Formats: sequence, C-alpha cells, structure tokens
Amino acid sequence: MNHKALLQLIFLHAAAAALISFAFCENAVLKGEDGEFGELPPEDQAPNDIKYNMRKGLDLDQEGCYLQTGKKKCLEECGFNATAKTIFIIHGWTMSGMFESWMQKLVSAVMQREHEANVIIVDWLSMAQQLYPDAVNYTSSVGLDIASMLNWLQDEQQLPLENVHLIGYSLGAHVAGYAGTYVQGTVGRITGLDPAGPMFEGVEEHKRLSPDDADFVDVLHTYTREALGVSIGIQQPIGDIDIYPNGGDVQPGCALGEVLAVASNFMEVMKCEHERAVHLFVDSLMNKDHMSFAFQCTGPDRFKKGICLSCRKNRCNNIGYNTRKMRKRRNSKMYLKTRADTPFGGYHYQMKMHVFNRKHMDTADPTFYLTLYGTHKDAANVYLDVQDDSIGLNLTNTFLVFTEEDIGDLLKINLNWEGEYESWTSVWKNFKTKFWAWDTKPPKPILEVRRIRVKAGETQKKFTFCAEDPSKTEISPGESLTFVKCRDGWEVKPRKRYET
Ligand SMILES: *[C@@H]1O[C@H](CO)[C@@H](O)[C@H](O)[C@H]1NC(C)=O
Ligand SMILES: *[C@@H]1O[C@H](CO)[C@@H](O)[C@H](O)[C@H]1NC(C)=O
Ligand SMILES: *[C@@H]1O[C@H](CO)[C@@H](O)[C@H](O)[C@H]1NC(C)=O
Repeated sequence: MNHKALLQLIFLHAAAAALISFAFCENAVLKGEDGEFGELPPEDQAPNDIKYNMRKGLDLDQEGCYLQTGKKKCLEECGFNATAKTIFIIHGWTMSGMFESWMQKLVSAVMQREHEANVIIVDWLSMAQQLYPDAVNYTSSVGLDIASMLNWLQDEQQLPLENVHLIGYSLGAHVAGYAGTYVQGTVGRITGLDPAGPMFEGVEEHKRLSPDDADFVDVLHTYTREALGVSIGIQQPIGDIDIYPNGGDVQPGCALGEVLAVASNFMEVMKCEHERAVHLFVDSLMNKDHMSFAFQCTGPDRFKKGICLSCRKNRCNNIGYNTRKMRKRRNSKMYLKTRADTPFGGYHYQMKMHVFNRKHMDTADPTFYLTLYGTHKDAANVYLDVQDDSIGLNLTNTFLVFTEEDIGDLLKINLNWEGEYESWTSVWKNFKTKFWAWDTKPPKPILEVRRIRVKAGETQKKFTFCAEDPSKTEISPGESLTFVKCRDGWEVKPRKRYET
C-alpha cells in the first residue's frame, strides 16, 4: 500500500477511536450511580485514568463491575472472591483507544477455564492511546497502580499473592512487570504475550518484564522479526521460560497474501503475528486435551534441524496457560512449530537418516518428500526441510518433520525424491547444476538410505524404520523408497547383556 493510504487509514482509526472512547468514558461515569465514582478529583491534562473492570459475564458489551482501591463496597458488589484465583488482563499500546477483538476472546476463554476466578481487565486505554514513547512512559505508573490495588487486596481481603496471575499483551507485559516489582510480596505468575520490543530490548531488568517480577514468568514471543533495527515483539528472553513458536518470527497463516488482501495488508500481517501470542494462549485455555509442546533449544536453527526434541530434565513443556512451572531457570528458550489456525498444536518428529552417496551426486541437491502412514491416518507430501542448504552426503542427517494432524503411531514411511521437472525448486536446482553442461546428458544420481530413525516429540517414543525390501535402498530423482517399522528404539543391534 502507498504512504498516503496508510496515513489515511491511521487517521480514520484515530478519528473513530476518539468518538468511541468518548462514549466509553461517559458510560463509565454513568456507572457510578451510587455516587462513589463521581468523587474522583478532576484530573489535570495528563491522562491517568485506570479502571479495573471485573467481568461477571462473557459478554464484553455488558458493563462489568469496577473495583477501586480502598472501596470495600465495590468488592462486595462485584462478588470478589479472595480465596479464588485472581487474573488480571492487561492490554497494550492502542491506536484506536478501544479494546481490540482479542480481549473478548481471551476474557471468555479464561472465564470458561476458571469458573470461580476473579477476572479483571486493567483498562488503561486513555494512557495507552498516546504516542508510543508516551505510552511506554506510562507503563511504570500503571504498574504501580496495579501494585497498590494488590497491596490493598492483601490488607483488606488477605488475598494470597500466589493466586494472582497477571497476563499482559505487548506493552501490557511490561506493565505487569512493573506491577510485580512494586507490589509487596511476590505475585504467583506473570505471562507476557509477545512483550513489546521498542524501548525495552536490551534495557536493564528493572525497566522491563524480567524473571524476578513473579514467582514464575512465562513468555510467548511471536513477532521478533527485525525491521529497521527494531522488532515489535522483544527478541531477547526475559522470563523463566521463553517460548518462540515457529522460531518467533514468521507465523503460519500470517504471510502477505495469506491474510485478507486489503489495502492495509502490511498492518494486517503485523497485527496477525504480534497478536498470535494471544491466540495461542486462548487456544491453550480452550483445547486442554490437545496441548502443544515446546522444546528447549539454544536457537531456532538447531530446532529446525530437529536436534532438540528431548523432554529429559524438563527440557519440554506445555505452552500457554498449561505451562508447568519449573525450578528457576532463567531465560530458557523453547521452540515449537504450530498450525496456521486453532487448534494450533501439531506433531513433531525427529528423523535421522544416513545418506550414502552412491553415484554422481557431488553437486546435486535432492528434494525429498515424505508420506507418513499412521494408525489413525496418513500425512502425505510432507516436505523434508533441509536447513543447511543441502543434505550431507555420507553423513547422518537430522531433520525436523511436522504434521498438522495426529496420525497415531507411525507405521510406515515413504521417501520420495522429487523428479527433475515436478516443481520449480527442482527445475531451478537442475538448471543450476546443468547450466554449463547442458549439451552433455548428465548421468543419473543415486543415493542410498538404509534406515530411518524416528523420535516422536509428543510421545518421546523412538523407533527404527528399515527398508521394506532390503534389496531396494537406492533412490534417484522421481523414485521413492518405503520403510517399515522394524524395531522399537534406536539400537542398531539388540543389546547383548549378561551374556555368558
Ligand atoms: C470462592 O472460591 C473458592 C475457591 O475457588 C471456592 O471454593 C468457593 O466456593 C468460592 N466462594 C464463593 C462464594 O463462590
Ligand atoms: C515520563 O514522564 C515523566 C513524568 O511522569 C516526565 O518527567 C518524563 O519527561 C517523561 N519521559 C518521557 C520520555 O516522556
Ligand atoms: C562418499 O562415499 C562414496 C562411496 O563410498 C565416494 O565415492 C564419495 O567420494 C564419498 N564422499 C562424498 C563427499 O560424497
């Protein structure tokens, strides 16, 4: 989209927002019919209007009930239950000055999962709807305000702080961090949903969300792609565990062309990836029996190679609401792949295969596809993603294979080497290798694969697959090989123990 259209769009958003936020404030004032809400002193020009909207029903259009620090009556009216969980949801920077549609989804998912919990929206819209640096500047005072609310609840209701969970999106994650810093005692948990990056990346711990802000701090990073030196979501790990779905950068279903092809395409992509953290969290609340696992890894590249699918010593965890608290281990980076839509969870496999170079393969670069046959269903045409440009010949290669559906236990694998003219990738690869020798017909390359060792990330089960026909282990472009399960585990030879 061109510049002018973008500016117009921003302007329209802002104009609409001005109108609607005016109506919203009116509404909030009307709400104080018992007089209590009218007693607030008139504010000077700086907006510092923070509301604690405790939800009673799933319908966001219905007024909730407003809590106010020091007003015991509000607690009774709102039905605050001090022995139940208390969950604060904190929004981020806003251009529109309105709650975005994710808020409704998150609130209703939390309420459906935790029927008895006190679910409170921290509404700091008037402060968040400022120029970004100003909104950033307000995060600490909003955090302080939440801390005073929590201190008062501790004094007034003996609220146990370990039952408090702060969930903050974008700038709201850092607000939660400040609340955790300022409160007397330690809140149970803070979840950061794609915490904002600009003006927080690389700053000292006390100026952003950090592991000390709660007993357990978990973070989802979904938009850490850098443009012009900044990224919308913070890149560095800032919690006890930091989960980077799909490497934390490109989210499936969000690419240009995949989201609605409207004029605001670029903004839509941005919003889609940044907000994905919220939708993954909502998914984890709703789909309790289809949990997504993340695996600890030192970096996205190693993860994409399939090296990190271990669950030993707490190296894997559920994502989102179901994340298990772990012994303090700062900045543990975890990765997973997801589907493009809810339910986001899929299935990860590590596959190891030794690829022998049999003939004429010194420059070529095979494109492999797999068909996986399982006890529930099959997954066809799964692209074997090669990370380091090309497959290592005469070496054992490790791959990460992802299926969107649960195929059950894997029974059989079909390895297919794409023919020379079956896709643009293959055409291009062949063009590159044959360009200088196109008058001589190159000989047919041959590779050999004898077995594939598989580890399922979700079940941690290991199997060895052997060539179905032991005499057929060689493969050339346009051909395929079939492997069947021949052994549980990965041992090449059965262990010989206690032999006499
Ligand atoms: C308050 O919450 C606790 C714990 O969830 C629950 O056992 C109790 O019944 C709740 N009380 C009321 C009045 O809802
Ligand atoms: C942040 O707010 C304080 C007042 O609360 C002000 O003195 C300071 O200049 C502000 N900083 C920025 C960068 O706007
Ligand atoms: C791999 O092994 C084959 C036969 O054993 C040999 O011809 C080839 O040179 C080896 N090395 C590479 C890099 O392919």
